Amino acid sequence: MLGKLFLFILFQILASSSSSSEEDESSSESGNKGEHPKSSSHGHWNYLDQDAWSSDFQHCSGQSQSPINIATRQAIFDPQLPEIKLEGYDLSDSELLKLVNNGHTLQLNLPDTMRIVSGFDNIFLAAQLHFHWGTIEAPGSEHTIDNVHFPAEIHVVHYNSKYHNISEAASKLDGLAVLGAFIGIGLHENENYEKILSSLMDVSREESDTEIPGFNVRNLLPNKLAKFYRYNGSLTTPPCYQTVNWTIFNDTITVSRKQLASLEDTLKAGLDQHLTKNFRAPQLLYNRQVMSSFRAEPSSTGPQIPSYPDSDGQSKKGRTINEPAYSKEVLSRGDILAIVFGALFTVTLLSFMIYACQQRKKTLSLKKDTRQNVIYKPATKEEV
Ligand SMILES: *[C@@H]1O[C@H](CO)[C@@H](O)[C@H](O)[C@H]1NC(C)=O
Ligand SMILES: *[C@@H]1O[C@H](CO)[C@@H](O)[C@H](O)[C@H]1NC(C)=O
Ligand SMILES: *[C@@H]1O[C@H](CO)[C@@H](O)[C@H](O)[C@H]1NC(C)=O
Ligand SMILES: *[C@@H]1O[C@H](CO)[C@@H](O)[C@H](O)[C@H]1NC(C)=O
Ligand SMILES: [Zn+2]
Repeated sequence: MLGKLFLFILFQILASSSSSSEEDESSSESGNKGEHPKSSSHGHWNYLDQDAWSSDFQHCSGQSQSPINIATRQAIFDPQLPEIKLEGYDLSDSELLKLVNNGHTLQLNLPDTMRIVSGFDNIFLAAQLHFHWGTIEAPGSEHTIDNVHFPAEIHVVHYNSKYHNISEAASKLDGLAVLGAFIGIGLHENENYEKILSSLMDVSREESDTEIPGFNVRNLLPNKLAKFYRYNGSLTTPPCYQTVNWTIFNDTITVSRKQLASLEDTLKAGLDQHLTKNFRAPQLLYNRQVMSSFRAEPSSTGPQIPSYPDSDGQSKKGRTINEPAYSKEVLSRGDILAIVFGALFTVTLLSFMIYACQQRKKTLSLKKDTRQNVIYKPATKEEV
């Protein structure tokens, strides 16, 4: 009886501490910057001081900012969302594409012959794609799924064909459509990503660029595009215009651990800094809804934990969404609390039980009942 009660209470404590640690996460998230605050001179910005963005760029404090956390159970299934259809993504290798390290990201400029022909009210033309990532230790996608980061994220930026160019479209309400997908770690090298990553060394310096042969850019996106989330958001960098019609695919991409490490390790920002952690913290949802093109299924059908062979040939779990550094830190705080409370509770309970047993012994010996040793009856049938 007491044992069950104790387990029940312990379970309650564990459950409440882990749910409060989930709430903590977004606040510890937004605390990931500001460790080395730099005064941002006008027009310049960095990822370490994200709270300062809105002093130079007013849109950054708006109420439709990106990225966001996508709470998968809160997304509203919308059967009307049209399927995304891409055209012109299979580029010839005679077409050269400019690859740039702009100090904030690795960007590949794209021709406007690449387009989204179905999925929106207008045709949208491609302008560029780029990436967001973390470090070897910490995942760095911008959007999070149920408060969990993926290792990296790709954004393919398109603008509404009713405008002349992306700079004109960027500030217009219906100006931009960005396709986003999560990048995780898989067993194998991703040949498609290698078309870009093999040229990383050529753009390691900030503001350097190179040209790479065209390839099938469709292959940088997940295999299946049918399942996606849709919401109204913004550029995730200054000037944070709230003009992006976001599509985040449910299917994900994998690259090898080595490929991800090369993205995290090769590029420089400034003279001596590594270009890492170029992701903005999730922003408040305010009065927005996240739609989904699919019905949520039980999480058993969700993404699996990829594994990768260790250097000694053994297989270990990859650094995936299921083991992000942030939630690990936050969870362990919750775990410690639970253990401390559990231990305190156990000690109190034991003391009480010992005391109660001694009281009972006294009572029994006082009664001098010699017929039956009540103490040996199973504790579960006793009311102590
Ligand atoms: C985004 O696209 C959807 C689908 O065409 C459309 O219904 C929605 O109004 C668009 N959002 C904005 C802000 O234009
Ligand atoms: C974009 O289009 C506008 C309007 O036609 C034009 O004024 C501007 O120079 C263009 N910008 C670029 C970068 O081509
Ligand atoms: C996005 O904004 C458009 C235009 O205001 C609106 O029609 C649409 O319903 C919004 N979409 C979502 C998912 O809130
Ligand atoms: C994909 O959808 C499933 C079902 O809702 C969800 O469990 C999973 O977390 C989603 N993953 C991504 C990357 O959106
Ligand atoms: Zn981006």
